[in-house]
Amino acid sequence: MAQQKTGRLESKVALVTGAGAGIGRASCIALAREGARLLAVDCDAPSCEATAAQARETGAEALAFVADVSRAEDCRAMVECAEQNFGALHVLFNNAGISHLEDGDAESTDEAVWDLTMNVNLKGVFLGCKYGIPALRRAGGGSVINTASFVALLGAATPQLAYTASKGGVLALSRELAVRHAREQVRVNALCPGPLRTELLMRQLDTEAKRQRRLVHLPMGRFGEAREIADAVVFLASDESSFITGATFLVDGGVAAAYVTPE
Ligand SMILES: NC(=O)c1ccc[n+]([C@@H]2O[C@H](COP(=O)([O-])OP(=O)(O)OC[C@H]3O[C@@H](n4cnc5c(N)ncnc54)[C@H](O)[C@@H]3O)[C@@H](O)[C@H]2O)c1
Repeated sequence: MAQQKTGRLESKVALVTGAGAGIGRASCIALAREGARLLAVDCDAPSCEATAAQARETGAEALAFVADVSRAEDCRAMVECAEQNFGALHVLFNNAGISHLEDGDAESTDEAVWDLTMNVNLKGVFLGCKYGIPALRRAGGGSVINTASFVALLGAATPQLAYTASKGGVLALSRELAVRHAREQVRVNALCPGPLRTELLMRQLDTEAKRQRRLVHLPMGRFGEAREIADAVVFLASDESSFITGATFLVDGGVAAAYVTPE
């Protein structure tokens, strides 16, 4: 049962992509609990409908919208849907992303894997901004939150070249847009989650041995929870973060600060 509303985002309209699972779903519930009206967007219809239903349990207005963020027409339509149904758009959370199991190093990564990853993770953010920022401006201002990753800042021997490069692109794109729109009351921040216990990472770390090997590198000795990212999303979405733009906003349990972790 979702908790009831508390009101930090009363009167705001939020659009969340990748809303059907993990960070996106947890953020939808958190935003709804704070009073936002919500468009939950995902390429998987049943999962974003389930998220919207959970968000409505908080008493918020929430709708589901099926879109593939790598398609311009879908991104244009999702923004139009938010404005038509809720009258405006104030918060744009470009969060949808994929991590391909065959993403490797430069030699092993297929061109098709590279293109798919870039299309969803980087072009998807570009398209969200392309259609969403004008809507935020029409609303008198707002907050764009783009999900990058701690891997945009660190090298890893995993390897995941396309994923890492796409997230580096999200950081650069977010900084540039933050500066471009700073005088229009449109803030743009890149959110960098650390390793989380969501489907995206657990699909890769599919044995206890792989998970333990990874945990050695995490100062807190645990994976993060989607809910812990959602709390940062609420902050970046709300006016409490009114002087924060162009930030690389790490919510990573200290991973990017670590050289040697505790025994
Ligand atoms: N899980 C982690 O450890 C971690 C760490 C850092 C950053 N991230 C980033 O956070 C974001 C969310 O990750 P998550 O862990 O919640 O993932 P997840 O796999 O649990 O959920 C991702 C959601 O995005 C949707 N999606 C995928 N492709 C889409 C597309 N083309 N159009 C619309 N929706 C699409 C999926 O259907 C799914 O519902 C991603 O951008 C990911 O790269 C995750």
